[in-house]
Amino acid sequence: MLGEGFIWASQGNAAYRDWAFKQCQSLFTCLSNNKILVAFATIAIVKTLTWVWYYVGGFGLNESLKMLKNHTLRPFFLSLTSSFLLRSKVDKEVKKSLISIEDSLMKGDERLTQFSHLPSTGLEEQQVLQELDLSQRVLAHSDWEGGKVSGAVYHGGKELIHLQSQAFEKYCVANQLHPDVFPAVRKMEAEVVSMVLNMFHAPESTACGTTTSGGTESLLLACLSAKMYALHHKGIKNPEIIAPVTAHAAFDKAAYYFGMTLRHAPLDPKTFKVDLKRVRRLINKNTVLLVGSAPNFPYGIVDDIEGLGMLAQQKNIPLHVDCCLGSFVIAHMEKAGFKDIPPFDFRVPGVTSVSCDTHKYGFAPKGSSVILYRSRELRMHQYYLLADWVGGLYGSPTLAGSRPGALVVGCWATMIRIGEQGYIDSCKEIISTARELKTYIEDRIPDLQIIGDPKCSVVAFTSDKIDVHELSDKLAQKGWHLSALQNPPALHLAVTWLTRPVISELTETLRDLVEELKKNGTKKPSSDGTSALYGVAGSVQTSGVVDRLLVGFLDTLYKTKRDF
Ligand SMILES: *Cc1c(COP(=O)(O)O)cnc(C)c1O
Ligand SMILES: *[C@@H]1O[C@H](CO)[C@@H](O)[C@H](O)[C@H]1NC(C)=O
Ligand SMILES: *[C@@H]1O[C@H](CO)[C@@H](O)[C@H](O)[C@H]1NC(C)=O
Repeated sequence: MLGEGFIWASQGNAAYRDWAFKQCQSLFTCLSNNKILVAFATIAIVKTLTWVWYYVGGFGLNESLKMLKNHTLRPFFLSLTSSFLLRSKVDKEVKKSLISIEDSLMKGDERLTQFSHLPSTGLEEQQVLQELDLSQRVLAHSDWEGGKVSGAVYHGGKELIHLQSQAFEKYCVANQLHPDVFPAVRKMEAEVVSMVLNMFHAPESTACGTTTSGGTESLLLACLSAKMYALHHKGIKNPEIIAPVTAHAAFDKAAYYFGMTLRHAPLDPKTFKVDLKRVRRLINKNTVLLVGSAPNFPYGIVDDIEGLGMLAQQKNIPLHVDCCLGSFVIAHMEKAGFKDIPPFDFRVPGVTSVSCDTHKYGFAPKGSSVILYRSRELRMHQYYLLADWVGGLYGSPTLAGSRPGALVVGCWATMIRIGEQGYIDSCKEIISTARELKTYIEDRIPDLQIIGDPKCSVVAFTSDKIDVHELSDKLAQKGWHLSALQNPPALHLAVTWLTRPVISELTETLRDLVEELKKNGTKKPSSDGTSALYGVAGSVQTSGVVDRLLVGFLDTLYKTKRDF
């Protein structure tokens, strides 16, 4: 739809181009006798040389040319989409998509009592409980209990939920900001950190860490600590992080929040691990942190942590290993008998920090993760200190001020309830299930290709025959929610404790759907659903439109009334 408009607009441009060209010509003749021109030319040449040195040195010639194209084409199309000619047409398309987003997210809200204002007198407890039940019934969630959702809910066993609720009730009001008021919570938090440190073989005498609200906060803190450490020890004022393109979006978020530059290192096309040669080329005097994932979110591939560790040591740069997703599964793989995982934790020299999400395969309530450091010095640089505040001496270890003590208590209770053997057993089951899926696809569904050689709980696949995003839409109709990936289009399943009993249902569904899609042949891309959304995201002509859809999506999260 949008394409037609672009073609039309570019055809009408010839006259304008001629006019612009004439204007430039006359400007140049006017300036040619002028010293200003010489100055400008010098600046331009120096800038170009710097650019060539920096980008061609870091990314190679071919890649740099592609980036140059992206940097010139994208703004061009961006200005087109915001141009007077096309604005109304694009606006109409965007509005249509936003309405369909709203329809799917707010479906059925009107069947419940609306509380957009505080009720003037409070409801009876019984009524509140009724509202809670009714909300859950009317706005029924995806079938996570059935194990058909990728990731999201990692355990969900009834007994565990009951234990966590009791822990929450007992420590509902606790706040780690006041360890003097809640000494028991301080002890439990310190023990959670210590237990996870030991799982990742951290050196006993020096290692340390803190709990956080989730993987994103752990990664933000790792980047902040690296930035402040480099500032104090090396005077680096323009800090850069080097992370694989497959590293979690939280690294981009950290760079955005803390004014750092993130350099994305490409992957080895065979193994889908980060390409070490490219990482080496990206390192410069501003590099403050190297990153590897064990495993990464998109493909579930563990980067070559030993190789990264060697680089980190040679160049004397900290190395963070993101085990947010690997969590308690990767930490227990060796003991569960899976010996095909090379070292990834503090046993690798050069690894200076590790993040681990207790709220993923640790099965703790959501809102819980741990950041671990090899040394106190590194941890200190994530602290915030204010010695002269009117409100008193202020020191805070993580991003939040007040922190929900009940969550760390819930995490602690879960960990000591399950214990090492419990985590080893769940690791065995989860990894076997993931490998079953991988083997089935490799042996029985030749039209799907597994990406890399995933060894952990996430299995990603792409296809050279069918549109996998269309496959994703068909799976969703059958209740399966896999994660959609892009560049290249792919899907992944993060196997959880709940997926085990239904994995053969998934493999058979996959086989049938792929057969069917192949037989039906490639149709015109559908106008809604995952397939359409990623179609828009992938085309350079419509860049900028996806940002608007994302903003619209986020806005919808806070809507109470349907208003168009
Ligand atoms: C889940 C995840 C994170 C952190 O995500 P949160 O949603 O903030 O917990 C970080 N890295 C990887 C690889 C992840 O899968
Ligand atoms: C250029 O943009 C396209 C589409 O957004 C993307 O697939 C590609 O990786 C980008 N290339 C570079 C070198 O940034
Ligand atoms: C294939 O085509 C048939 C008939 O048009 C349709 O009923 C079916 O849903 C299609 N299947 C898929 C997977 O698109």
